[in-house]
Amino acid sequence: MQKPYIILHMMTSLDGKITGDFLNYSDALGEDYYRINREYKADAFCCGRITMEGSFTQGKQPDLSPFANAKVDRVDHVAIKADYYAVSIDPHGRLGWYGDHIVDHDPGYDNAYIIEVLTQQVSDSYLAFLQSKGISYIFCGDDKIDVSVMNDKLVRLFGIKKLMLEGGGLTDSLFVDADVIDEMSLVLVPALSNEGIDLFAGKNCNLVAYSQTKVQPLADGGLWLNYKK
Ligand SMILES: NC(=O)c1ccc[n+]([C@@H]2O[C@H](COP(=O)([O-])OP(=O)(O)OC[C@H]3O[C@@H](n4cnc5c(N)ncnc54)[C@H](OP(=O)(O)O)[C@@H]3O)[C@@H](O)[C@H]2O)c1
Repeated sequence: MQKPYIILHMMTSLDGKITGDFLNYSDALGEDYYRINREYKADAFCCGRITMEGSFTQGKQPDLSPFANAKVDRVDHVAIKADYYAVSIDPHGRLGWYGDHIVDHDPGYDNAYIIEVLTQQVSDSYLAFLQSKGISYIFCGDDKIDVSVMNDKLVRLFGIKKLMLEGGGLTDSLFVDADVIDEMSLVLVPALSNEGIDLFAGKNCNLVAYSQTKVQPLADGGLWLNYKK
């Protein structure tokens, strides 16, 4: 089985949260986060369904009514080969994508071609919906995402060699439990969170150790922490 080199890139509070008001603590630190993302020059970024909804589809539901009677073979679908991809972990097929690629003001996300990572729980009508949008999809498990299968398909079918993993906490856990994160890139905000999801919400893994390779001061008292396997 093959896998891309995987970098977890996240912004966290001092208490290890990834959501809350601390995310708005400093615009300059937020820009540092996006700059570092761009500087990695990865072949793809990857997020879970909830993060994709919040950042890119605004919670839009897919209109499946034109595909109510669709019958679609359960085989991987490579709609397009591109230079940059958005890998979307959407086990049940819930995201109401507008088109086949991300539209965003930040060039670190803009124009990334979408790959939906699905389980067999997805409906035929959702597969037909994805095909109508020109979106690629891969099957990676019966009812849970198998990260090893996903990684292998991302390399073999799309040539993805470097992948930025960018949350949320459930999705990060999926990867840390599979022990496939090669590098961690954490932008630490000098504030506690007023609420929030843990960086690895619901992880099950035992000790996973990393070596620190860099610590770099950022804007407004933030830090960039870099660790490698
Ligand atoms: N601070 C940062 O740098 C940062 C970065 C990214 C995101 N975030 C924040 O993180 C929050 C979302 O995090 P989250 O943990 O709630 O959600 P998430 O990881 O974005 O998405 C979770 C969804 O992905 C699917 N999924 C992920 N892992 C799975 C697994 N092991 N098995 C089956 N399905 C799995 C499920 O979809 P279904 O429910 O459809 O089955 C699950 O509900 C957002 O508020 C976002 O703004 C922060």
